[in-house]
Amino acid sequence: MKTLVIVAHPNLEQSKVNRTWMNRLQQEENVTVHNLYAHYPTFEIDVEKEQELLLEHDRIVLQFPFYWYSSPALLKQWQDLVLTYGWAYGSEGTKLRGKEFVLAISTGGPEAAYQAGGYNHFSISELTKPFQATANLTGMRFLPTFTVQGVRFLTDEQVRESAEELVRHLKNNY
Ligand SMILES: Cc1cc2nc3c(=O)[nH]c(=O)nc-3n(C[C@H](O)[C@H](O)[C@H](O)COP(=O)(O)O)c2cc1C
Repeated sequence: MKTLVIVAHPNLEQSKVNRTWMNRLQQEENVTVHNLYAHYPTFEIDVEKEQELLLEHDRIVLQFPFYWYSSPALLKQWQDLVLTYGWAYGSEGTKLRGKEFVLAISTGGPEAAYQAGGYNHFSISELTKPFQATANLTGMRFLPTFTVQGVRFLTDEQVRESAEELVRHLKNNY
């Protein structure tokens, strides 16, 4: 089982959570960490290279901070350019079929805000429906999402512990 973690954070120098996760995941065997903003600061994505990376792995992880109830912009650009017709979807677009797909998301808002009656109204599961639909269309199995919320209030120790939890989450059999 080979896992690809695509990290999309536009400002990793100031990141608390995603940087810790990325550094921790880099120590794991059979895990490739791919820092999207470092590779494509001008948003010019090498589509062939990205498709090759996807083909080489079984479990695809998108790791990002929640920005406006979705992902940072470069990850959307990546989806728009890399998941092409005839490759990822369409009658002959079967390249991702059978792979597994996981989201690893950090949010500023606390868990209690992400529900009916909370100030964000909707759950992470509801807000990530486009990713779930993408997994469905491309024939990937959508696995449970890993979320760490209310990150402002986390101690350094809790951030480190969340990285260990993420490693366990990504190693699980589902
Ligand atoms: C442009 C922008 C948009 C954001 N949108 C949201 C949001 O919709 N929901 C939320 O809970 N937090 C939001 N945040 C907070 C980030 O999710 C939070 O700072 C990040 O998860 C922390 O991770 P890091 O320590 O790796 O930077 C936003 C932050 C920025 C800069």
